[in-house]
Amino acid sequence: MPAIFARSADAVVRQAAVGVVVAVGLLVVGWYYYALPSYTRVGYAPEQPVPFSHELHAGKLGMDCAYCHQSVYESPHATVPTARVCMNCHNPKMANVKGNSPLLAPIRTSYDTGQPVEWKRIHKLPEYAYFNHAVHVNKGVSCISCHGPINEMKVVYHHQPLTMGWCLKCHTDPHEHLRPVHEVTNLKWAPPDGKTAREIGASIATDLQIKAPMNCQGCHR
Ligand code: HEC
Ligand code: HEC
Ligand code: HEC
Ligand code: HEC
Ligand code: HEC
Repeated sequence: MPAIFARSADAVVRQAAVGVVVAVGLLVVGWYYYALPSYTRVGYAPEQPVPFSHELHAGKLGMDCAYCHQSVYESPHATVPTARVCMNCHNPKMANVKGNSPLLAPIRTSYDTGQPVEWKRIHKLPEYAYFNHAVHVNKGVSCISCHGPINEMKVVYHHQPLTMGWCLKCHTDPHEHLRPVHEVTNLKWAPPDGKTAREIGASIATDLQIKAPMNCQGCHR
């Protein structure tokens, strides 16, 4: 029996099969690309040169954020501490908390040479967007609103999207996110009994005459 359709049908099936393989391949590549942390941002947690734990230092030991991120109240940038700050405790010749730990070798080298530790930057806005830490923190917006529960993180990860829509969502209605200014670095703060965060926020907004910009020039200068 001659196979009437055999050859051409074979070709069609083969082409279809190749098509499916290519399509699946593209899907997989596309999925990886969009799911990459550096692309989605949220969840991005690069490996750091020293395994510094916020959960230990800011959580268990209860160190204030401003002990290490000193400029948050005065400057647009929060800055990451120099090795000198770590050496207040980890200096083998002084306080000597784990002073000879191999995990702290890059800190000791940086302290001796003055070369900064190469911490990987986690949160970064594009150059065309203007952001200022001091303004937010001094109006009672806590670190937790924008960075999440850092005091519970063994490794810092990108918690919020930091997109324009995300900024605007709070600017339209910030009351939920305002607290007494001296509580901004207390990530465990909760409104006192009988009050909601929104009620506290509303009265702070009146006291401090809060008005967050919604105009383009406010954030694109
Ligand atoms: C003992 C010093 C120390 C204390 C206290 C501390 N930090 Fe940090 N912080 C660091 C160091 C070092 C890094 C860089 C390494 C890393 O990302 O873990 C950092 C990184 C960060 C980052 C990520 C920076 C980036 O690259 O985008 C955020 C956000 C942050 N800290 C917030 C906080 C908050 C909020 C608190 C208080 C709850 C706090 N830190 C307390 C030392 C400290
Ligand atoms: C106020 C004191 C203090 C400061 C300042 C401090 N730490 Fe620590 N750190 C500690 C204590 C306490 C421990 C826990 C020691 C232990 O487990 O016995 C610790 C543990 C560590 C460890 C784990 C070491 C090991 O071998 O287990 C690392 C890594 C570390 N700190 C990094 C840093 C870095 C980086 C800085 C500066 C950004 C810093 N620390 C600043 C007190 C401090
Ligand atoms: C209103 C949101 C917001 C609040 C509140 C906030 N941050 Fe940030 N933080 C950001 C953004 C946005 C960036 C990225 C800034 C950039 O790229 O210019 C950032 C970056 C950082 C960095 C990296 C260094 C830098 O300045 O770019 C550190 C460290 C940091 N924040 C710590 C803190 C600490 C500590 C607090 C609380 C005292 C805090 N932040 C409160 C939004 C916020
Ligand atoms: C959780 C709430 C919240 C988030 C999120 C937030 N902001 Fe704000 N923003 C405020 C408040 C509150 C003010 C203070 C307004 C005032 O001073 O009256 C403010 C003020 C500002 C100002 C005006 C002050 C200045 O520096 O000139 C700019 C610009 C600004 N925010 C940019 C941003 C950008 C960019 C983002 C996103 C990356 C952002 N904000 C995210 C609450 C927020
Ligand atoms: C509260 C601060 C804020 C205001 C107000 C604001 N922007 Fe933005 N805008 C941002 C931030 C932050 C980014 C960066 C977002 C990112 O990296 O995902 C951005 C990004 C953009 C982009 C790049 C595309 C995108 O969406 O990421 C454009 C275009 C833009 N803004 C236009 C505008 C225009 C037009 C206005 C006025 C109608 C405006 N923005 C008002 C904060 C703001």
